[in-house]
Amino acid sequence: MSVDKLPQEIQQLCEEIDLHNYRYHVLDEPTVPDAHYDKLFKQLKAWESANPALVSAQSPTQRVGARPNNGFKQITHEMPMLSLDNAFNAQELSDFDLRLRERLGLNADKDIEYACEPKLDGIAVSLLYENGLLIRGATRGDGAVGEDITHNVRTIPSIPLKLRGSGYPQKLEVRGEIYMLKAGFEAMNAKAQRSGDKTFVNPRNAAAGSIRQLDPRITATRPLEMCCYSIGVVEGGEVPADHYATLQLLNQWGLKINPHLLKSTGITDTISYIEKMQQLRSQLPYEIDGLVFKVNNFTLQQRLGFISRAPRWAIAYKFPAQEQITQVEKVEFQVGRTGAITPVARLTPVFVGGVTVSNATLHNMDEIDRLQLKVGDWVVVHRAGDVIPKVVRVIQDKRPDDAAEVEFPDGCPVCQSAIVKIEGEAISRCSGGLTCAAQRKEALVHYVSKKALDIDGLGEKLIDTLVSKEMVAKFDDIYYLSKVNLMRLERMGDKSVDKLLATIERTKKTSLEKFIYALGIREVGEATARNLANEFGFLQRIIDASVERLEQVTDVGPIVAKHIVSFFAQTHNLQVIDSLRSAGVTWPEAEPIAEDELLLAGKVYVLTGTLEQMGRSEAKAHLQEMGAKVAGSVSKKTDCVVAGAAAGSKLKKAEDLGIEVLTEQQFVDFLRTQGIEI
Ligand code: IVH
Repeated sequence: MSVDKLPQEIQQLCEEIDLHNYRYHVLDEPTVPDAHYDKLFKQLKAWESANPALVSAQSPTQRVGARPNNGFKQITHEMPMLSLDNAFNAQELSDFDLRLRERLGLNADKDIEYACEPKLDGIAVSLLYENGLLIRGATRGDGAVGEDITHNVRTIPSIPLKLRGSGYPQKLEVRGEIYMLKAGFEAMNAKAQRSGDKTFVNPRNAAAGSIRQLDPRITATRPLEMCCYSIGVVEGGEVPADHYATLQLLNQWGLKINPHLLKSTGITDTISYIEKMQQLRSQLPYEIDGLVFKVNNFTLQQRLGFISRAPRWAIAYKFPAQEQITQVEKVEFQVGRTGAITPVARLTPVFVGGVTVSNATLHNMDEIDRLQLKVGDWVVVHRAGDVIPKVVRVIQDKRPDDAAEVEFPDGCPVCQSAIVKIEGEAISRCSGGLTCAAQRKEALVHYVSKKALDIDGLGEKLIDTLVSKEMVAKFDDIYYLSKVNLMRLERMGDKSVDKLLATIERTKKTSLEKFIYALGIREVGEATARNLANEFGFLQRIIDASVERLEQVTDVGPIVAKHIVSFFAQTHNLQVIDSLRSAGVTWPEAEPIAEDELLLAGKVYVLTGTLEQMGRSEAKAHLQEMGAKVAGSVSKKTDCVVAGAAAGSKLKKAEDLGIEVLTEQQFVDFLRTQGIEI
């Protein structure tokens, strides 16, 4: 049954649902709430069940079909699906550019235009559209022969069953990568673990496993996406003269392309792209294992041609591997600021994610149980971006005979106080409180840190020395340090001591939020501290507040509220505050500003593009604190759009509607005028 034979209102309904699908899954810009979409979908389903003979194969309800009855059919690719040569550093990249320029006989002053794009870590697939209808999906296989996965690709919402618009060739093969979103992968694995099912090692394996399912109902439950990165067979129609323009057109036809696609002139420009993408990498919702640089112009591509299985006109710039294998030499236990005892794996040093890693946190004993880890084991260590290295799994087959169980210490490894474990909590804690040197030290490090009292020059090493020489035990001891005593320490000269003492003196004038944060109340981070300060205005009011009252504060739940109350219920903590006040620590206190008097009360902000100086959630929190609402899409109701790097259609829409737009820098400057430091 073809769509154009349907009653007009049903055709329109299908089109409307397709449009919302496209906006949601391909453009990442939904314009209606999910509930509205669900309503339309339900309407269509109801009509179709009343008219089963009139259901079109392209109907948005028809993504999950029957399983193929004799496994996967083999598909011979009309044009082979190639792989890519690799480069691992800037030198290899410029060698690549030089080779191409020589081949093309280009003068030194003539740059090649490259298309730069992320190398998505999933599996390569080919989609075949005939007269705009998806008729086949195939895996890359060995490049020459792949497997027919049509029944599965149909379930992926970012793959259109029918191309949008017009002007597409009669026969069009689109190629790209199917991958799984990181968050979806984590959730899927967590669920599998709870129900004792098989878990996947990483999102790529999960994507590969999902796409090679015989039952499309299973594939349909997996959070898969496809981004297109090239075309194959084109017949009965034309595509533009270059790669970049072709991908833009694919996007208009309803296919998803990666938003971080960029054109660059010459190879030097690609270096800044590498730097930008490396920074962005850990924040991307999917995994990338490198970048791909392609000669943009199709004629030049043709002139360059192929060598064996890879094109001469493209290269993959591979990021350093994020996973490596190494051995656990021992497991030691560290004591943190709140007494939490954390097992740490001491590893045979290994180069991973661009740095040498010799320690990895194991979080708690439950994690050791989950990993089934023993001392001496070979493990896979993962380090992504500047994220803390993590032991992701044990290679059980490589376990040496003398591998030993990890033994949890009987008492605190630093002060020997008893260790307590609260029912239902994974973490064990030293009961020594500030009598434990480790906790004292960590508490002091926190107290002087940038977001707290910000005593620049009082670093971890110096605190170590001060604590071990018993020159500082409590926070207020910092304010009684004398020049003579400090001068006695190693590497402390006249000038640096003067500077430190001046900083200590100057930073006594602080703010309520910094002071609350500095106290180190469990689970009270800088944002909570700020919310508390804004809501109460006076420290004494926070001290006096009940759990119920605290729960009314933004982002304060019952657990945090309990931590706050029990912190202030302990007399020794109140003494700490008194002694700091006596030492001269002060902050301004004032009646809090009522919500409707806040600077941005009632204003609607939209954040778009990539913010480089702060996270999106941080930006959102600042705006909300000033009374603004933060919306997901631009409309006439929007008052201001903050546009980060590579802002796209939202920025355009704001400009079209004449809405105020701030660059990230202007936004940061504005925050500064409000006393918010980024
Ligand atoms: S282009 C002839 N572009 O990397 C061009 N490939 O090592 C061949 N991949 O099998 C592919 N992201 O699975 C291209 N933006 C991208 C890519 C990409 C990921 C994968 C693809 C291919 C492999 C080659």
